[in-house]
Amino acid sequence: MEEREESYSFYEEDEQQPEGQTGLWKILIVDDDLEVHRATRSSLAEFSFQGRGLLLLFAASAAEARKLLTEHGDTAIILLDVVMEDDLAGLNFAKYVREELKNRFVRILLRTGQPGIAPEKSVIVNYDINGFLEKSDLTMQKLYTAIITCLRSYRDIIDLESANIALKTEFDMRMEAERKMAEQAQQAAIGLAIAQIIHGAKNILNALKGGKYIIESALKDDNLELIRKGWDVTKIGISRMEDLTCGLLDLSRFNRLEIKSHSLNEVIKEILASCRNSQACSGIGDIEIAADMDNSLPEAMFDYKAIHTALMNLICNAVDACKDKEYNEGESGRVTIKTYPGGDGYTYVEVEDNGCGIKPEEMENIFKLFYTTKHSNGNGLGLSITKKIIEEHGGRLDIDSKLGRGTKFTIVLHKDRRHNLKYNTQKENHDG
Ligand SMILES: Nc1ncnc2c1ncn2[C@@H]1O[C@H](COP(=O)(O)OP(=O)(O)OP(=O)(O)O)[C@@H](O)[C@H]1O
Ligand SMILES: [Mg+2]
Repeated sequence: MEEREESYSFYEEDEQQPEGQTGLWKILIVDDDLEVHRATRSSLAEFSFQGRGLLLLFAASAAEARKLLTEHGDTAIILLDVVMEDDLAGLNFAKYVREELKNRFVRILLRTGQPGIAPEKSVIVNYDINGFLEKSDLTMQKLYTAIITCLRSYRDIIDLESANIALKTEFDMRMEAERKMAEQAQQAAIGLAIAQIIHGAKNILNALKGGKYIIESALKDDNLELIRKGWDVTKIGISRMEDLTCGLLDLSRFNRLEIKSHSLNEVIKEILASCRNSQACSGIGDIEIAADMDNSLPEAMFDYKAIHTALMNLICNAVDACKDKEYNEGESGRVTIKTYPGGDGYTYVEVEDNGCGIKPEEMENIFKLFYTTKHSNGNGLGLSITKKIIEEHGGRLDIDSKLGRGTKFTIVLHKDRRHNLKYNTQKENHDG
């Protein structure tokens, strides 16, 4: 058998070797006619492209070609005869290269002496080859031109592939960095949340210890009056612990909503009934809670319990804001819950109070988890829960507050939750 590898390194002066591409262009000549090997070798003896010479690889059969191509995966061109071991050996080899080796880079030039066996039109259509040369008609010039054309497209494909790989590597690295950052941020947020929960629980525990201390001292003296005082302090502590645990539970449980068609007015009626009862019990006395509901309000799609919780939080805050304000003679605290339909399937619910209002500099904090201005009377959970619930519904929570005059929270929901979610995603994309 003849020598299978041969290199030529003649460089043309005017062509520069591009950066990143070095070495010789590899061309695999597959032909069972050794005369063709010899002729190709002498035709290409002086060939170079972009300052790189050729490394010619010779195979006398498709089987030999398979072996050589496996060893030289960076072969740029295959000059391929069709009829070798059998009539279709060359075409089957081309198929093997593309489908089994999955090599879509190497350029395949079919070079046949019997065009009848592999007619150009059907071969180009059915096999992924890149050119067709008839041996009888193949001049040195034609071979040169075909090889330069193929090397150019091979170079461009490889450059593109390298750019793709570089881009993908860069993309993967960024994704990984972002994932790590998000993970760290999440861990930090969890750490902070745990610290805040423990802080809240410790405050409550201190209150409970205070109650315990008062009761223990009172027991020594059989002081029933003091025992009552201690018990009151203890009861407040227990109720705050209940608020904390219920709030934390609300935060975690409204991830999965049970969306059904409900009347918002019905939710509000139920809340009003329970507020009036608790008003009577807890003696918040002269704060009026009124409703102004539009009876034509259509049903909307929402999770009943979640929206009940969200509204309840807003109303409790409104009542607290009224308790925090000193009213002029003849004035008193008032909370109004109003519903009305907007156009295009939107529903609006407003919770408005004439309480203390919110300081402009506090606006950015009020939705933060555990942020409260109520000291031992608040856990800072209500607005975080409410915002989360409304966002899970794809809705919007607007706020308008004037210090000393009152605050209005507006919940905006659409009758179709998917519409809300779509709207918010579009908005985020637009904003972001
Ligand atoms: N209607 C309102 N008027 C004035 N301030 C308000 C109003 N609603 C909320 N705020 C302010 O926002 C803060 C955070 O409210 P949020 O409901 O999250 O917690 P909280 O009411 O303090 O405690 P929790 O709801 O856990 O009992 C409140 O402490 C208060 O300062
Ligand atoms: Mg609250």
